[in-house]
Amino acid sequence: MTDTFNAFEIKNGVVTVDDRPLTELTAGFETPCFVYNLKHIRSRVQFMRETLTTALDARLLSIHYAVKANSRHSILRLLCELGASVDVVSDGEIAASLDAGFQPSDVLFSGVGKTKKELRTAVHQGVKQINVESLGELERLIRMTEELGITAQNAISIGLRFNPNVCPETHPYITTGLKENKFGLETEAVRDAVKLLCRTDRLTLRGLSLHIGSQLLDLAPLDEAIERSLALHDELSSSRAAGPWDRFDAGGGVGIDYTSFDERTERDAIHSLGEIFTKRLRPRVASGSLRDIMIEPGRWLVARAGLLLTEVQYVKSTSHKTFVIVDGGMNLLLRPALYEAEHRIEPLHASSINKTNKIRVDVVGPICESADVLGRDRLLPSVNEGDRLAVFDSGAYGRSMSSNYNLRGWPDEHDLNF
Ligand code: LLP
Repeated sequence: MTDTFNAFEIKNGVVTVDDRPLTELTAGFETPCFVYNLKHIRSRVQFMRETLTTALDARLLSIHYAVKANSRHSILRLLCELGASVDVVSDGEIAASLDAGFQPSDVLFSGVGKTKKELRTAVHQGVKQINVESLGELERLIRMTEELGITAQNAISIGLRFNPNVCPETHPYITTGLKENKFGLETEAVRDAVKLLCRTDRLTLRGLSLHIGSQLLDLAPLDEAIERSLALHDELSSSRAAGPWDRFDAGGGVGIDYTSFDERTERDAIHSLGEIFTKRLRPRVASGSLRDIMIEPGRWLVARAGLLLTEVQYVKSTSHKTFVIVDGGMNLLLRPALYEAEHRIEPLHASSINKTNKIRVDVVGPICESADVLGRDRLLPSVNEGDRLAVFDSGAYGRSMSSNYNLRGWPDEHDLNF
């Protein structure tokens, strides 16, 4: 594996990219800002594709990057250049994807609450597939295709998002494949949807779609979900009712190790995904019954490639603890406040890894909320006003979930060129 696989590293106590100190590469950047290593995203895409195509023919695998993870134009352009496709959940994400060079035929449209306007856009654009998540959405889509004069010749491809009721063992806020979640169709609802679809030739059913949750570190639940989906696929597709049933969408969700710089386990996860595909999907691809295996990775491709760069404003000691107050907080990286997610935090100049002289601090942002904590009870070397801190693994669900709360404005974003 090439060195660029590690997006950022600590060398001799200093944060580096490709052996160059980050202080040097970011010297002119105003904080707070997000900094991205695009080379790293490139190597992740290549690794994912190479690994999965040992399981499946490259022509039959579609990597639909989940745009919600990070919709930065340069990142979308890079993914487009690398031959990826996209998974989108709003008309805004459709527009951003087309603007970056993707074709409508690259677009997979997911989401539980698609509005009439959004569905109309998707139908007009002729996206590759709309993943339907409720019977109400399906009825709306059937009415819309009638109104818009869609016929069997230009029928719209759809997938049915199946909720397999499998526990993905992740944070409850990012679990999506359990029966108490709002996402997808339960088994009976999938059967009802197929009945509805048999009455129209304006929609073509390409197959089932899954997404059981995010930040999955153990892929056994995904394996189980795929097994359940394929059983339902077999039950319903035998009559070829409502379409060719020639696609399968396994969703996204493969997680990363936020606790360490070591990215090896994450490569292992993609090997495991490949093994699941070999076991479950290869025979169907070989027999020609499935012709397109789609996946929707977000975090795995971009999380490691980004960091949030902040500057220490004050070091405030109370009788209870020491707060390191920085210039970016939950407004820019919501994950710690929302999920109690842990992101590694290091000063750029001298990492806490090599320092013996450490103090225990809370790294907090400037927002008027006590939840505005980027890192709780962290051991950091002593830092002073003006020092810069990197909050790692902020490339996914960082900028895309940020807000203008407290009117602090939007942060700059920079791609590193080295
Ligand atoms: N496909 C669908 C239909 C999704 O809803 C998602 C994520 C993905 C794909 C991509 O999942 P990934 O490969 O990135 O795990 N804000 C949370 C994550 C929420 C994910 C929402 N859906 C976080 O920061 O952890």
